[in-house]
Amino acid sequence: MRLYEKWVNPQWVRLLDVLQMKVRYSRCIGTELHTEDGRKILDFNSGYCVHNAGHNHPRIKAAIIAEIERDGAAMLQTGVPELAGVLGAQLCERAGGKLTKAFFASSGSEGVEAAIKFSRAHTGRVAMLSAKGAFHGLTCGALSLMSDAFWKDGFGPMLADVEMVTFGALDELAAKLASKRFAAFIVEPVQVEAGMRIPDGEYLKQAQALCRRYGTLLVLDEVQTGLYRTGPFLAAHHFGVDPDMIILAKALSGGLIPVGAVLMTDAVYKSTYSSFKRSIVHTSTYSENALAMRAGLATLEVLEDERLGEGAAGLGEQVRQMLAARLAGYEMVAEIRGIGMLTAVEFRAPKRLRLRVPFQAFARIHPAMFGQVLVMHLFRDKGILTQICGNNFMVLKVAPPLIVTHDQLEQFVGALGDIVELMHSGGRFWSEALGMARRVIGAI
Ligand SMILES: Cc1ncc(COP(=O)(O)O)c(C=O)c1O
Repeated sequence: MRLYEKWVNPQWVRLLDVLQMKVRYSRCIGTELHTEDGRKILDFNSGYCVHNAGHNHPRIKAAIIAEIERDGAAMLQTGVPELAGVLGAQLCERAGGKLTKAFFASSGSEGVEAAIKFSRAHTGRVAMLSAKGAFHGLTCGALSLMSDAFWKDGFGPMLADVEMVTFGALDELAAKLASKRFAAFIVEPVQVEAGMRIPDGEYLKQAQALCRRYGTLLVLDEVQTGLYRTGPFLAAHHFGVDPDMIILAKALSGGLIPVGAVLMTDAVYKSTYSSFKRSIVHTSTYSENALAMRAGLATLEVLEDERLGEGAAGLGEQVRQMLAARLAGYEMVAEIRGIGMLTAVEFRAPKRLRLRVPFQAFARIHPAMFGQVLVMHLFRDKGILTQICGNNFMVLKVAPPLIVTHDQLEQFVGALGDIVELMHSGGRFWSEALGMARRVIGAI
């Protein structure tokens, strides 16, 4: 850790220290993280939806090792990477609709950047439309599509000609699209980091119809929601939409090799790669590398053989029912909602004076303080790793690997119930928060 602190990012190490989450992991298997000091922690964050198949899945590991041992053309650049063809076919077949071509990248943000360029090339328009509260990644183009100032401050100027609409508001969307200025409307089917905003059943279908009417491409960012996280292969499949592009990343390679993918229509492909002179007009060095492609193929096999999408749908419903029963009646619990194995527990400011005073004091120090104390308690006292949403600090995200068992979900619900009880009885939860506030102030 000392080398990381000295040579990489000392601020991150300090933050983990303040949160009492600075531990050394020695072995991560399935849903379990083992620490050097002998603790076992249940992962309910999945590296932000990377570990859908669980940590270090033996079949995905074996496929990667076999690919290395094959001594093949892993990164030749000047050949035809056959494995990219196989994975491209499998992804497009599963996505369905008009999506018949794949572009591979090494991250979600890189996929978003590609989608921005492809939609400009296809429409001849420059402006982009996105939804407030979105998370699309931290490269300049992707960041330009996000409204939250925290991520943008100090990094401007962003892409010119980006506008944003309220997620779910069709009138606003229609008014913007009617200008016929926008190349694409890029949107997450479920806004996870905004606090798990799930649109009503018609929103995306209507958005698609509006996009078609005004010549704007519909691009769905499924970087967190794809790969069976919400039940079906894509969250788009819940809503009956047929987008022009889909962006995938995170879980696609089993959490072991960086990867990203943009699935697009033939028409979009042809607008960018319009002649053989332009055959490599948008590419990147590690795109289509054999290890990522092999890991992607093995991950699809695992997710499907183990029927993890069906598991996500069934167990996701069960955990929400258990949470609703256990957390009923607590004034700070506002709502439990979710889709598949993505669940949000939304908290709200307390009304009772005894709780309101400390709550407001901590919110003044930092708006994420309350959520981080909750995360800290779950981690330190209950051995469960969670996180709050990146753009909504009052929402606890529940996103374990899809291989999670009913018993582990019960364990989580019991643990969260105990902490929620503690926070409502005053006392220790808030004095811990005070301790953390002191450490934060000391660290600033
Ligand atoms: C919905 C969504 N899109 C894009 C990204 C960016 O992906 P990456 O961090 O791989 O660049 C993220 C990352 O969290 C994400 O959640």
